[in-house]
Amino acid sequence: MLKALSALSFVHRFEPESGPAAPPLLLLHGTGGDENDLVPLARTIAPGSAVLSPRGKVLENGMPRFFRRLAEGVFDQDDVRRRAQELADFVSEARASYGLTAPIALGFSNGANIAAAVLLLRPEALAGAILLRAMVPLAVPPAADLAGKPVLILSGAMDPIVPADNAARLAALLAERGAAVRHEILPAGHGLSKADIAIAGQWLQTAGLT
Ligand code: MLT
Repeated sequence: MLKALSALSFVHRFEPESGPAAPPLLLLHGTGGDENDLVPLARTIAPGSAVLSPRGKVLENGMPRFFRRLAEGVFDQDDVRRRAQELADFVSEARASYGLTAPIALGFSNGANIAAAVLLLRPEALAGAILLRAMVPLAVPPAADLAGKPVLILSGAMDPIVPADNAARLAALLAERGAAVRHEILPAGHGLSKADIAIAGQWLQTAGLT
């Protein structure tokens, strides 16, 4: 059963789990997307998992996002920090309302960037993360205890938005804080490819998360 709800602090879609117990997925869409965008991907890579999918509250020319940016790749640092806290609070509200364990974030582009910010600022909010086309979200990343948290980062070798060294820096800073990071660079651009879907699905299975 699908639900689109606004009673909690974000407009969101929630779909309960239908298979054996596995962590829920927190779906975080890209710029201009909404709470429905990543549901088909989630269903493909984790068919039985619950999905919790909020819609970003920031509007950029009418396009939903999870935080404000000043230009492409230039983020409003105060807003990133505030919005990451707000999203982590929503996760906690939703966990209480729906009886969920800590979710694995599945974020694309702007959604991957806010997921990385939540990992750094509120690590307890997430059990792990799949970051698709992510960048470093915080100019001054805080110390954080990410001990053992599984994180998969999939970057595109031809991505015109995310510079290769930026994605590598994100992988390094999460690993330095203890996360179990796997970072792969795919022959792709900013958009997702079949390899993203295959690798994300295998990674969830190998980590025992589906
Ligand atoms: C961002 O603004 O988070 C990144 O530039 C990715 C994007 O949304 O285009």
